[in-house]
Order: sequence, then structure tokens, then C-alpha cells
Amino acid sequence: MSIRRIGLLTSGGDAPGMNTAIRAVVRGAVAREVSVMGIEDGYDGLLKGRLRELRPRDVGDILHKGGTFLQTARCKEMMTEAGQREAVRMINQHDIDGLVVIGGDGSLRGARRLSELGVKVVGIPASIDNDIYGTSMSLGVDTALNTILDATDKLRDTASSHERAFLIETMGRGSGYLATMAGLICGAELVVIPEVPTTVDDIGRAIEAAYARGKNHAFVIVAEGAEPKVREIAAHLEESDIGFKSRVTILGHVQRGGRPTAFDRLLANRMGIAAVNALIDGEDDVMVGLGADAISLVPLEDVVSRVRDLQSDYYEMISILAR
Ligand code: F6P
Repeated sequence: MSIRRIGLLTSGGDAPGMNTAIRAVVRGAVAREVSVMGIEDGYDGLLKGRLRELRPRDVGDILHKGGTFLQTARCKEMMTEAGQREAVRMINQHDIDGLVVIGGDGSLRGARRLSELGVKVVGIPASIDNDIYGTSMSLGVDTALNTILDATDKLRDTASSHERAFLIETMGRGSGYLATMAGLICGAELVVIPEVPTTVDDIGRAIEAAYARGKNHAFVIVAEGAEPKVREIAAHLEESDIGFKSRVTILGHVQRGGRPTAFDRLLANRMGIAAVNALIDGEDDVMVGLGADAISLVPLEDVVSRVRDLQSDYYEMISILAR
């Protein structure tokens, strides 16, 4: 059966880049003469019948904005068999031949379930947590990291002026990815993440050692899902002699907002178009993922004798997305 109409939803926690991906899906589909039904509020809106056609003009002026213009929700009903069957019924009722789901692990689990019930589905990974298997980066991660970096740069100014240690809590649910990457790029003494057992004494010792080395500030990045919790660590440090006085900053939802970075916009465009093309070309029950992210060794002879490609696929995407 050929694809004539695609359903599109964003689900779970919003992530910067979702809007860019929405635009890319709509314009990528229209370029192939396929229409798109935008579904509001994720699976919740699907169950309640909140759908409307999205044309190229409807998705103008959103590619640079954070959040999701389709709105999103965490839908408990989609976790039930009855909810999933109702979702399939709504998809059929609206003559939707394939569904693009933009969201995190829970949303992709919902997509997988719909696929098991016979719906053609392609997923686009979007979650600042970067905890989704099968892609080196999900939408929103780079923007969140840049937000964290902006905060830690600012905290460094005050931390070194007062000779303080800062405990900075990052999001990430059960994953230590954001905390680890943030710790690496902001120059933390230690990161506390769910994946690695760490005690309050380990943290105290790391800060004390930084003080002994003559540093004028210290950062410890604590993932929200880690034990011990940031307040518990602060209470321990208060009673210990670690050189620095300490302060706590919980970054919270500020990490989820903001204009998507160049990286996230590029990834969203690539993933949006790839998802649409995959569906139209007969793929389903898959997620578009970004492949290997590794440092390699390149012979200098190749470096100096060859010319890097323009990557003409990007050049061609411009006219599709300009619709
Ligand atoms: O999954 C994204 C995320 O921001 C997590 O890092 C965090 O634990 C969670 O969502 C917060 O959820 P809510 O916005 O529902 O409070």
C-alpha cells in the first residue's frame, strides 16, 4: 500500500530541534506529494482526535524555536492495551497510512507497540537525556549541553571570585550522559552519575584535592538520577573540612528550552527528511539514528592530497525545505 498521508506527533518531554524536525517532515513529505496530519499533544491528542492538516506555510517560522509547536504530553493511556488499540482506530479513522513519532524512549516504545498492531511507524529520537539506543545523538542534546555550558561558564566567574565549590545538578532521568559530557567540557573535578557508584566521601576528597592543588574553585556535576542526591552531598560538605565553601545550583527545566543549536537544526533536518523518505520508500518499524561518533586516524598524505566533499545531499535538501 502506498503512503498518501502521514501522521506526525511529538511526544514526551519537549526537546530543542523538535520544531525543526516538524518542518522538515512536513516539507519533505509535501515534496513527495504526501500530505501530513499534525497530531497535537502527542498520543494524548491522537486519542482525543486533535488532528489537523499541516501544509508548508503552517510550519513557517518555527525552525529556530525551542519547544514543540504541536505541543506534547506524557500519555498514560498509551501504556494500556485499550489505549493502544484506540490509537490504531484513530489512525485508521483519519486515513493515516504511516506515522512519524518524534520523542524519547517512552514515546518510541509507544511507536513500537503501534507497529506491532499493524501501523507503519518511523521514529525520530528526541530527548535531551541522550539515552536512546541506536543513535549517537538525539535531538535536543547539543542544545541542552550548550545551555549547561553557558551556566557553568557563569558559575565559574562567581565560584572563582569567592573560592567556592559548586555542586551543579543536571537533568538526564536515569542517564548520566548530560552530566558526564557537561563535566568534561566545563572542567569538573568529578561527575556523580547513576551508572557509577560514588560516595559523599569520594566527592569530599575530590574537592579537597582540588583545593590542595591550589585551584580557586571546583565543580562537581551531579546527574539528577544519581545517588547521593545533590542536597545530601551539600549537607555532607557543610560538615567537612574541604577547603572551599560550597553552593548548590539545580539547572532544572532551563536545560530543555531555548533555540536549537546549529548542530540540532542540522540533525533535525536530516532526520526529518530521512524519516519521511523511509516511510514513503516502504520502511517501517524503525528509528532514524545518527551513526558512529568516533575519532579516527587519517593519513596526512590523504589529508593534503584530497578535497573534502561539499556533501551535495545537504545542498539538495535546501530546495525541499524551502517550500
Ligand atoms: O526526559 C527529559 C527530562 O527532561 C528528564 O531529563 C527529566 O528527568 C524529565 O524529563 C522531567 O520531566 P518533566 O518535564 O515531566 O518534569
